[in-house]
Amino acid sequence: MKKDFLTITDCTRDEIYDLFELALDLKKKLKKGKRKAILKDKTLAMVFQKPSARTRVSFETGMFQLGGHALYLSPNDIGIGKRESVADIARVLSRYNDGIMARLFGHELILELAEYASVPVINGLTDLYHPCQVMGDMLTILEHRGHFDGLKVTYIGDGNNLANSWINMASRIPMSLTLSVPEGYNPDAATLQEGQKSGISSIEIERDPMIAVREADIIYTDVWASMGQEKEAEKRKKVFRKYQVNENLVNEAGADVKVMHCLPAHRGDEITDAVMDGPRAIVFDEAENRMHIQKAIMVRLMSNA
Ligand code: CP
Ligand code: NVA
Repeated sequence: MKKDFLTITDCTRDEIYDLFELALDLKKKLKKGKRKAILKDKTLAMVFQKPSARTRVSFETGMFQLGGHALYLSPNDIGIGKRESVADIARVLSRYNDGIMARLFGHELILELAEYASVPVINGLTDLYHPCQVMGDMLTILEHRGHFDGLKVTYIGDGNNLANSWINMASRIPMSLTLSVPEGYNPDAATLQEGQKSGISSIEIERDPMIAVREADIIYTDVWASMGQEKEAEKRKKVFRKYQVNENLVNEAGADVKVMHCLPAHRGDEITDAVMDGPRAIVFDEAENRMHIQKAIMVRLMSNA
């Protein structure tokens, strides 16, 4: 039976560790100039309803490095759900391709895509989750810390798709996850409840960011207005002002704290230049690791390796 990657909870803890191990191995080999064509002659259809830099480039490049080919289908090409139904597109793309990666608005759209596709479907971001991002983020933390023991992650900002995927991660790998979000901007209630029910991590909401970052190993932030929320951007700038990741806030955390951001960053809003360009930011390692972890995901889903 085909396997999809729509949320982090589609994987067991062992499968997540296996993906980290494979990603690190592929990364090491790539740095030595060794590319193994594990997905030779395979193709990945990439369906985008929203813009992207990292997701498109990392999947396309990653697929090429694995000996395959990726097709970029822009928001204007397919008109998924408008020009053609999700179910029909799923069946058509499955006839040509070995896998589908999609970045869509509603999470229900990717569930439908996966239901009707006969090939694996990978979530490249929906309004609800961004699982590939948080997989790459945890890989980056593993590289920097060497282990996840006693890990404390503090997520600052909007309770959005990234916050939800962090909760999913905390329901697979033990950690202390503190979400510092303003009133009215909580993460998805069902995801939070499910994460807390998993019982392996402490997952808490702390409205005061100064308290939330205490003892943090990782401070993580994301844009205040996600793609599709552009009209709310001005209002959100006021609501989120005290949730800016600036030097003052970062200084409240442990001396070895690392700062992460999935990018694109709105410098001067959720994060300052001083932090982004400072010694504690690991945002570009994070961006790079998107490619390595996604290669591992594609290998596990699209080959017998
Ligand atoms: N972090 C991330 O997914 O970036 P893009 O939106 O540019 O793909
Ligand atoms: N929360 C952001 C993430 C961008 C990678 C968005 O959905 O726009």
